[in-house]
Amino acid sequence: MLETVIKRERDLGTPERVSEKTVTLTIDGQEISVAEGTSLMRAAAEAGINIPKLCATDSLEPFGSCRLCLVQIEGRRGYPASCTTPAENGMVVYTETPKLHDLRRGVMELYISDHPLDCLTCPANGDCELQDMAGVVGLRNVRYGYDGANHLKAKTDDSNPYFSYDASKCIVCNRCVRACEETQGTFALTISGKGFDSRVSPGQDQSFLDSECVSCGACVQACPTSTLQEKTVIMMGQAEHSVVTTCAYCGVGCGFKAEMKGQEVVRMVPWKDGQANRGHSCVKGRFAWGYATHKERVLKPMIRKHITDSWKEVSWDEAINYAASEFRRIQSQYGRDAVGGITSSRCTNEETWLVQKLVRAAFGTNNVDTCARVCHSPTGYGLKQTLGESAGTQTFDSVMHTDVVIVMGANPSSGHPVFASRLKRRLRQGARLIVIDPRRIELVSSPHIKADFHLQVRPGTNTALLSSLAHVIATEGLIDEAFVAERCETKAFNEWRDFVSLPENSPEAMEEITGVPAQAVRGAARLFATGGNGSIYYGLGVTEHSQGSTTVMAIANLAMATGNIGREGVGVNPLRGQNNVQGSCDMGSFPHELPGYRHISDNVVRAQFEKDWGVTLQPEPGLRIPNMFEAALGGSFKGLYCQGEDIVQSDPNTQHVAASLAAMECIVVQDLFLNETAKYAHVFLPGSSFLEKDGTFTNAERRISRVRKVMEPKNGKSDWEVTVALSNALGYPMNYKHPREIMEEIARLTPTFSGVSYDKLDRLGSLQWPCNDDAPEGTPIMHIDAFVRGKGKFMITKYVPTDERSTRRFPLLLTTGRILSQYNVGAQTRRTPNVMWHGEDVLELHPQDAEDRGVAEGDWVGIQSRAGETVLRATLTDRVQPGVVYTTFHFPESGANVVTTDASDWATNCPEYKVTAVQVTRVSQPSEWQRQWSRFADIQQKLLRERSRESEAALTGK
Ligand code: SF4
Ligand code: SF4
Ligand code: SF4
Ligand code: FES
Repeated sequence: MLETVIKRERDLGTPERVSEKTVTLTIDGQEISVAEGTSLMRAAAEAGINIPKLCATDSLEPFGSCRLCLVQIEGRRGYPASCTTPAENGMVVYTETPKLHDLRRGVMELYISDHPLDCLTCPANGDCELQDMAGVVGLRNVRYGYDGANHLKAKTDDSNPYFSYDASKCIVCNRCVRACEETQGTFALTISGKGFDSRVSPGQDQSFLDSECVSCGACVQACPTSTLQEKTVIMMGQAEHSVVTTCAYCGVGCGFKAEMKGQEVVRMVPWKDGQANRGHSCVKGRFAWGYATHKERVLKPMIRKHITDSWKEVSWDEAINYAASEFRRIQSQYGRDAVGGITSSRCTNEETWLVQKLVRAAFGTNNVDTCARVCHSPTGYGLKQTLGESAGTQTFDSVMHTDVVIVMGANPSSGHPVFASRLKRRLRQGARLIVIDPRRIELVSSPHIKADFHLQVRPGTNTALLSSLAHVIATEGLIDEAFVAERCETKAFNEWRDFVSLPENSPEAMEEITGVPAQAVRGAARLFATGGNGSIYYGLGVTEHSQGSTTVMAIANLAMATGNIGREGVGVNPLRGQNNVQGSCDMGSFPHELPGYRHISDNVVRAQFEKDWGVTLQPEPGLRIPNMFEAALGGSFKGLYCQGEDIVQSDPNTQHVAASLAAMECIVVQDLFLNETAKYAHVFLPGSSFLEKDGTFTNAERRISRVRKVMEPKNGKSDWEVTVALSNALGYPMNYKHPREIMEEIARLTPTFSGVSYDKLDRLGSLQWPCNDDAPEGTPIMHIDAFVRGKGKFMITKYVPTDERSTRRFPLLLTTGRILSQYNVGAQTRRTPNVMWHGEDVLELHPQDAEDRGVAEGDWVGIQSRAGETVLRATLTDRVQPGVVYTTFHFPESGANVVTTDASDWATNCPEYKVTAVQVTRVSQPSEWQRQWSRFADIQQKLLRERSRESEAALTGK
């Protein structure tokens, strides 16, 4: 997957057509059979005949504007465009005749006469289709000169931080406009003006930055010239080689070609063969990778005795030996279970495997947990109970076969943008949409898309709403009885049907609780049950509740009751937040589960690991993250190895988390930057970015994809090597020479991964687990003939109100979420030009609630809950319903999690981020917590700066 010379991927001109019928024709004397509907251009290309083209590309529907692809067809007059002419049985086509050559040269001559002839200094030199086509058609001179009207002085729009639009080079081929519409679904571009005056325009003659453009890069990718061009290419020139790897941001798991010059990334190009993204990307993966070389990265290991001491830069050996000796000291002083580790869903499967192995085998405890605890742990629990496997059931491609989609508690346009684009494409084709969300997310109404139902549920009442949807399905005879009888446990189903049919679960009875009109619930239930293939996509707005696990089970119940499991176009699809949430759970990061979701108390499974690892494992589950905090405050938990997670910023009730960390004696943080957690650390082990390591990520579809090293680690070690060194220093030897050997161990010990290997991943591009003898090339769709647990199990999902209810003291409900340009704690995206779109977290407040409080747009407001108080700027919008306020949590100084409480899901302890009872008042200064945070941050920055000076002095000997 390493290309030493950058090759442009083969472009067959027009999209593939799928049809059971084929047509046979002759092109340049060759007999060719293709699927009905295939264009002449594609038919020729499939037979190896390349017809010149400019406005056509195989990712977009043909447009037929450039007239370069003309062909001659026996028995037809004129010269039709091959990109827009479908192949027909018996056609005889010629693509190369003297007349066609003349016509094409004429077309090219017109283009070139209005194009700056600066090829040698143009950033696209060597990567320009216009240049290529001039060569292909044999254009040698241009008769018209440059004296007439032309666009050579047209202005360049440099407003977007990542790409520029040089209008003088535009050939008005419309590819960018179509890419924005068809691929991305944003419709930000138009061709303004007519004839000679026509030009590409974002919005109403706005700049790219001021327009609706979301900077996905699809137009840049589609542009055949240098008109739309990445600024890094303009600055650095063309790349020299490329490596295929996987985006390290969200759970879509887009494949990218990292195009490189030596050790520097020139650009990240969405990989056309990427099975999750099919050549598309969003602003984060495409452009926001500059953090990897940001000056604030800490590249040298550091240690200190107390968090009030300055950091001391030390060698890797010293840092690792110090960490190991501290962990051993703590264990001998306070007991074996006084230490633990936290794995990260941003790290690779191999890294996560090693951290949980280190905790279980080297520490000798099961005190290991993962950040999935605070996002999708209810998915693991709920789907395991009902379907038998802790994972989503489909591929992303499956959405193209769906007829009715429920999107619940997820905002794909912001959180999973590439999936959102695919979903929108299906919706534009006519699929119906039901959105269940307290907030009016973008999908409810966006260009050419309007949800059939937006059930604007009151935060905390998801379970009640799903019961009322199920009530309609059960009482109106809409259950898929045949599916249920064949595939599900009868007794559990009967109990469930009786339960949901109770009058108290009717939409009318639930309306007061959920705030959703009963008629809308009835309409949505009927649509979902009768509208054809029904699929459910959900996010953290489902899981991060006191009844998160219950709601996941209710979703699975709904899918089973309507027979929507086990084929294309249906299914239960958790949209995983981070790149490797699925993988970090699969790899045994939970304290009660060994890899592959097998309980630690299972003697047979434990024995397999004990034999392979040569240690005795503890049979009892260890501490979950919130239990670690409690134990730290109670004095029994003293040491933590935290890889790639910023728990101080991301976990709820910040002050509680900070107090817990302050009570520990040795915190080892392995990360890229001195993050909020590292401010409480005693050992800092510099982390490596995804560009600097080998491994695999597993996305929301269970798709395992390779992450490939495109540059050497700037800190001298990949993350997996650091864990190996720490384990060796603790006296538990680990001997891996490459992550591929870790994957061999994963495959050896995890039945769902037994068929996975790097060789197979290189060969097939990616694999969806289970991948084993039964499914050697993976399992795109799960539960086809039977559920993993045998029969599907309906679970009773009684609505239990959360304790976080609005009261007179805290009359509003705060709910939180993400924004497109930022990612989680923002450590990466805040260090990129993405801050131009979102430079601070703000509080969304309904105008009515604002008026009641005398709050105007842009005012500072204090948000108080029973956990704490913070201050943000207010923005007034009816995206939120009255009584509900909303914010993001990307900036540490915002302190959104100072306000969230430690209420959590009953089954998994996943925090209830999505419902916090708050009061909002106008204020004029930061909260007490923010003042303290700012003082503490200043001190820690000073301690870090002192470290720099000390090391400089050591280096220069002054
Ligand atoms: S970057 Fe994406 S959203 Fe913006 S104009 Fe191009 S295709 Fe449209
Ligand atoms: S900007 Fe590029 S893709 Fe768009 S019309 Fe101009 S040349 Fe074509
Ligand atoms: S959709 Fe997700 S995986 Fe794809 S480029 Fe964007 S952040 Fe990366
Ligand atoms: S490529 Fe067919 S008309 Fe442009």
